[in-house]
Amino acid sequence: MAKDLMRDKVVLVTGATDGIGKAAALELARMGAHVVVVGRSRPKTEATLSEIYKKSGSTALDMLLADLASINDVRRIVGEFQERYHRLDVLLNNAGGIFAQRQLSVDGYEMTFALNHLSYFLPTNLLLGLLKASAPSRIINVASDVHRFSPINFNDLQNETSYGIGGFRAYGQSKLMNVMFTYELARRLEGTGVTANALHPGSVSTSLGKNNKGVVKFFFRALHRFAASPEEGAETAVYLASSPSVEGITGKYWDRCKTIISSSDSYDENAIQQLWEISEQLTGLATPQQTPEYQSVMMQ
Ligand SMILES: NC(=O)c1ccc[n+]([C@@H]2O[C@H](COP(=O)([O-])OP(=O)(O)OC[C@H]3O[C@@H](n4cnc5c(N)ncnc54)[C@H](OP(=O)(O)O)[C@@H]3O)[C@@H](O)[C@H]2O)c1
Repeated sequence: MAKDLMRDKVVLVTGATDGIGKAAALELARMGAHVVVVGRSRPKTEATLSEIYKKSGSTALDMLLADLASINDVRRIVGEFQERYHRLDVLLNNAGGIFAQRQLSVDGYEMTFALNHLSYFLPTNLLLGLLKASAPSRIINVASDVHRFSPINFNDLQNETSYGIGGFRAYGQSKLMNVMFTYELARRLEGTGVTANALHPGSVSTSLGKNNKGVVKFFFRALHRFAASPEEGAETAVYLASSPSVEGITGKYWDRCKTIISSSDSYDENAIQQLWEISEQLTGLATPQQTPEYQSVMMQ
């Protein structure tokens, strides 16, 4: 860890109250960054700030509270962030979950899709102006290698008929969306000085999946016994946020601080465009076009 490597950098981390996000936020605070933690529970987020302060000694810490599966909440915290800060050097999209039983977000979208994909897509797009004005700046999306096992079913984006046992198909699909979103972002941001990269953090012992009951909770408990620590899981995210050696590198998928090839589905240009357009419409970033794709999603 190079102390001062991130001095004067403003970093926004979602899902920073636990697991990989918390470990990354702490490490970046130790490197001198001004870290803004996004959490959903006030007590847990305050406790996180206090823990980061105790372990890093940094007072350059701030928090925003949101249910990131809520479009209104995301818009509100982006507004709050823009009122408080005039730059953003690193946006680390990390919040995520897996839900054994299909459930809906407050906006009526399937929860895995809303939390794992739309909560990356919407704040990133809303913050693009600030990121461009702060260039060189970096967007980092925490995806997963399980993206390889669940191609996107555009006929059932809300996972009504293809949720999958234990929610694993919906989860894998959402992580594929993270990778595809990253590739399209990188393409759109070419020449702006803003980079976009996605990563697999490895199998990491965190709270992921433990919100569930029964077999799924047991599965994650067992899996995490043999998994890496949150600090190890945060290494690639911290590297992408801070290392001078990745300056200017964009549109890549990373594992253990190295670029690797993602699934063949993730490079499908038509699917990437389709996902972008639907996401714009579902988050209200674009006026809904009455395309067949949009109508089929809305009717699910
Ligand atoms: N762990 C792994 O093995 C693994 C492997 C591949 C990819 N990943 C990815 O890594 C990322 C981080 O996961 P993790 O393993 O660190 O899991 P985690 O320990 O469960 O942390 C998830 C974070 O997201 C937050 N969050 C969940 N739902 C939210 C909501 N509706 N609104 C706001 N924040 C919300 C949680 O807040 P609370 O603290 O309030 O719960 C927590 O801070 C995820 O994108 C996950 O898909 C993890």
